[in-house]
Amino acid sequence: MNNKVSIAVTPERRIVDAMAAAHPPAPLSEQERHDLVDKTRALLVEKDAVLVAHYYVDAGLQALADESGGFVADSLEMARFGHQHPATTLVVAGVRFMGETAKILNPEKRVLMPELTAECSLDLSCPIQAFAEYCDAHPERTSVVYANTSAEVKARADWVVTSGIALDVVRHLHSQGEKILWAPDRHLGAYIQRQTDADMLLWPGSCIVHEAFKGDAMIRLMQKHPDARVLVHPESPAGVIDLADVVGSTTALIKAAQSMDATKFIVATDRGIFYKMKQAAPHKTFIEAPVAGEGATCISCAHCPWMEMNGLQNLADILESGENEITIDEQIRQKALRSVQKMIDFRQRRSTPVRELITA
Ligand code: 13P
Ligand code: SF4
Repeated sequence: MNNKVSIAVTPERRIVDAMAAAHPPAPLSEQERHDLVDKTRALLVEKDAVLVAHYYVDAGLQALADESGGFVADSLEMARFGHQHPATTLVVAGVRFMGETAKILNPEKRVLMPELTAECSLDLSCPIQAFAEYCDAHPERTSVVYANTSAEVKARADWVVTSGIALDVVRHLHSQGEKILWAPDRHLGAYIQRQTDADMLLWPGSCIVHEAFKGDAMIRLMQKHPDARVLVHPESPAGVIDLADVVGSTTALIKAAQSMDATKFIVATDRGIFYKMKQAAPHKTFIEAPVAGEGATCISCAHCPWMEMNGLQNLADILESGENEITIDEQIRQKALRSVQKMIDFRQRRSTPVRELITA
């Protein structure tokens, strides 16, 4: 008799394990920081590399990307910038799906990441086998996946979208009479469903950072700051989105902070964004949205544990050694490219710019 018990590794288990394994880089002294910035700057030139960073990574990395001719952006613009830049190596400071998207679009370039185990709870919540079975069970639906997914899931999907373009793509598909199978972020999916009235089936994934924002605690904070406007990323729960003055991608939120008349903002997204917000609007005040109800334990504390894994030391190390290169099976890459390219073409085709401000 076979007594072996096989325990299935659920997505929830993978998320918990990946959170436990996500260690932030060791703290650096001012001198170490300074030396590493100099070293990395020189290595970027020597290796013909450009640094592309997400708004949620360490402020020092964002500053280095800016001053070395690289780019700091949301996930859509990160992908587009890497594609357009002539450097032969792209260094992506963010989480793995961002490095994979860069490789999908740039097979001829070397794509390196400071940390290959920088996960995303949305990506982990949507394993390819389960996703493929879900698609097979609903062949009449057009599958639209968020960019926060593996290359395999992108390859299986009809469309890939980021938060900066998701609403416009689904609105377009809905106008063509298409029914949608949406994965993996249920909060973003539900928000789009409310905005468009599209027929959408929602995968039950969520972002551990945005899911922690709480509507009731937010109301109390708004009562304390009645003059503050509320900026919310659409990966947040409906109870938080409903309180927003502006709902949008990271870029949209920064632009709103800069362009709105208000001088005080409550911001419901990863606090890494404050670096660019303060740069865009230096005389304004930004307040973190509450991440938990009173008495509850803060899990992510409004900062993504996987974004935090990117540091100056591992950045310099991989540039020097050439380790942590992203590789993708060529067949998968080509299939994933089709659905990523649709998003890029859709963005380009539009006569008006992509909806960058989504006013709730
Ligand atoms: P943006 O596309 O708004 O940058 O958000 C992507 C994301 O989830 C980063 O965590
Ligand atoms: Fe994923 Fe959330 Fe981290 Fe973004 S902030 S990478 S959605 S876990």
